[in-house]
Amino acid sequence: MSAAPHTEREIQWTRRHLLGIADLSREEIETVLDTAPQFAAVAKRKSGIKKVPLLTGRLAVNWFHEPSTRTRLSFELAAKRLSADTLAMTTSASSVVKGETLHDTLANIEAMQADIIILRHDCAGAPHILAASHTSHVINAGDGRHEHPTQALLDAFTIREHLRRKTGNPEASLDGIKVTLVGDIEHSRVARSNILCLNKLGAQVTLCGPATLMPARVEEMGARVCYDLREALRGADVVYSLRIQLERQQHGLFPSIREYIRLFRVDHDSLRHAPEDALIMHPGPINRDLELAADIADGPRSVILEQVSNGVAVRMAVMHLLVNYGGAV
Ligand code: NCD
Repeated sequence: MSAAPHTEREIQWTRRHLLGIADLSREEIETVLDTAPQFAAVAKRKSGIKKVPLLTGRLAVNWFHEPSTRTRLSFELAAKRLSADTLAMTTSASSVVKGETLHDTLANIEAMQADIIILRHDCAGAPHILAASHTSHVINAGDGRHEHPTQALLDAFTIREHLRRKTGNPEASLDGIKVTLVGDIEHSRVARSNILCLNKLGAQVTLCGPATLMPARVEEMGARVCYDLREALRGADVVYSLRIQLERQQHGLFPSIREYIRLFRVDHDSLRHAPEDALIMHPGPINRDLELAADIADGPRSVILEQVSNGVAVRMAVMHLLVNYGGAV
């Protein structure tokens, strides 16, 4: 493996599961971020051999109860690049549709000696329930509106890499940087995990969106709420656009799409109020021209595809830490 800023000897990690950012300390978050660069380097090897033997003979099961493109492929690729075997299971093609409980399904998967269960579920808390009574390493790949910890970790990693490149300081941290999340905060597990993660890393978080898509008492999580997009974008180092989660909304949470676009879309017009070098981020999938203008998503300030590339490295880091440092199964 190529030289890493964080050598194997220095790694302090004991956690068996990754269920949410809420559980992690700043040190644990930084351990993941410091472990990721060596895996990002694996993907860029001149030899073209994008694999390391850190999880050889282990079995990772991707278990997705909700649609996913990026996260599912990213976890599968991360496991493969660590030399693990992978299985994929979707609800519509599993015995869950015949009435089998999550516990029974997992007990059966574990009877086939699975080591890592990567679970996406529409019920908040589903991965926590499984982790409490099963032996494999459980990773939350998004539970309802609750958390999406690997998304927040890859986002923090992406911001930190940019900051380090921009300042030329290889130790630069997120302390004091300003991140504005715009859109459907209420239905977004990405927003929740990002607020928690960015706060723990010392960043200042501003939330902006229609009042009907803003969770009650969200300020108590340590974020500033601002309903005026121009004001929210002022001084932002990062503008993070969130998808309008039409599938989780009841009708009528904002008057019309046209009204939403006028007040809250991240586009050339609204970005005149942000610094010129503000990074543009989005977790995907994008509703093009709804929450984010297509030319901005594809433009020079956008790091949306870097988020995707970094996602593989960060998920490799997470699986490596959980399995090789977080206690044997
Ligand atoms: C997010 C998710 O599923 O929570 N997407 C993702 O994981 N890349 C965000 C979303 O669906 O809007």
